[in-house]
Amino acid sequence: MQLDCVIRGGTVVNADGVSSADVGIVGEKIVALGSALPAARREIDARGRLVMPGGVDSHCHIEQVSSFGIMCADDFHSATVSAAFGGTTTVIPFCAQHRGDRIPEVLADYHRRAAEKAVIDYGFHLIVANPDGDTLARDLPEAIETGIRSFKIFMTYDRMRLHDEQILDVLMTARSHGALVMVHAENHGIISWLAGRMVGQGRVAPRYHAICHTRSSEAEAINRVIALAEVVDTPILIVHVSTIEGVAAIREAQARGVKVYGETCPQYLFLTARDIDRGLEGAMFCCSPPPRDEAAQEACWQGLKDGALAVYSSDHAPYRYDASGKLPKGEKTTFKEMANGVPGLELRLPLLFSQGVGSGRISLPEFVNLTATRHAEIYGLSAKGRIAPGCDADIAIWDPTRRVKIDAALLHDNTGYTPYAGRELTGWPVVVLARGEQLIDQDAAPGVIRAERGRGRFLARERSDALRPAGQVIPEVAQLSQWGDSL
Ligand code: URP
Ligand code: ZN
Ligand code: ZN
Repeated sequence: MQLDCVIRGGTVVNADGVSSADVGIVGEKIVALGSALPAARREIDARGRLVMPGGVDSHCHIEQVSSFGIMCADDFHSATVSAAFGGTTTVIPFCAQHRGDRIPEVLADYHRRAAEKAVIDYGFHLIVANPDGDTLARDLPEAIETGIRSFKIFMTYDRMRLHDEQILDVLMTARSHGALVMVHAENHGIISWLAGRMVGQGRVAPRYHAICHTRSSEAEAINRVIALAEVVDTPILIVHVSTIEGVAAIREAQARGVKVYGETCPQYLFLTARDIDRGLEGAMFCCSPPPRDEAAQEACWQGLKDGALAVYSSDHAPYRYDASGKLPKGEKTTFKEMANGVPGLELRLPLLFSQGVGSGRISLPEFVNLTATRHAEIYGLSAKGRIAPGCDADIAIWDPTRRVKIDAALLHDNTGYTPYAGRELTGWPVVVLARGEQLIDQDAAPGVIRAERGRGRFLARERSDALRPAGQVIPEVAQLSQWGDSL
């Protein structure tokens, strides 16, 4: 077979192991893995380098109006370019329904904008803010039919939050039609009551954001939504877990046989609440839930190690440090008014590689699993997240020794700052291929991406195993229910 491309002499890393192998590519696909593959039209020398699946970032906000009603700083072009430079070749951002929006129109709008601009492949989750009768009976099943197999729901934020009964409705629809429900789990009452008191007392600096979003607010909401999911035996995924208590609640539920997945993000491994405590500039580190302390970081690392947390995503939510994002009222902006979120698409992988693999906390296969393979498995992307014949040739070739001092000017998103400025990282993706096309070669053309706008394709996602109910409706309900144990 005439190969279009061979990546030669590298160390191939998959979630199940490391091997020395050449990777053969024809068109968009990996077709061979082996030693001494025949000469190809294009040869990439990967000696001394790691050949890994391109990252799959299953939680990022792109060209989306936030829960605060603020448009984020990245569009589908800048965000996907930034992702590619960071070694990520697939993203799953959100189509966001706000109250009053009709879901078919929301989906059409996001599809149009992404199709015009994305340079890497993308799927979508659907944020559900208004689960009325038509939404549940028609719009959500139709969205699932088109390959949007995950919904995000919020337990907080005035504009987005759902009551417990609404959450049960969405869970039941997801169960019946095959979708995963991602949950932003924070107790709204605790946060808004505390925030009201703080603002009333003139305590308006960003540091009070971290104080109001108590550890207990996350723990209560995680426990509550797990209880709701147990009633209908529907798999859920708790996004951006940040606390010792949150990780423990997920681990305990998993031990009982509940199908609950967890996610954490760079901000909960590499930042703490002290980063927010720097006057107004702390706004650049404000996200929900907020970064905590070293003990919570440790719990998140442990959760990633033992599987309580299945995936590591960016929760890239980029807002500029100006009136368009973090500071709508300039210096008078209170922590209640600033956009929540931090950028992270481009640094998600380099941070984990340097601080996780470099420090010996996680192995190379664990790195690949947490950044790519597990995302693809859970979210139904069987052609992504692995270096294997038949998979898409989405590949990041890393120089494990390259040292980079982080500076916002190096990055390609539109946020204008990075919470990780000044850190020295070791290990960097230097060559990036997406469906066989070489987009980036930092050796030959540093800082250049060769990718046509709109080359990224929408990925209709499959019904993954993660969506199958555990088969244990709680006994009181099972006795009565018409859905029994067979759905
Ligand atoms: O602060 C955050 N995480 N902003 C993004 C929106 C969300 O809740 O995921
Ligand atoms: Zn969230
Ligand atoms: Zn998010």
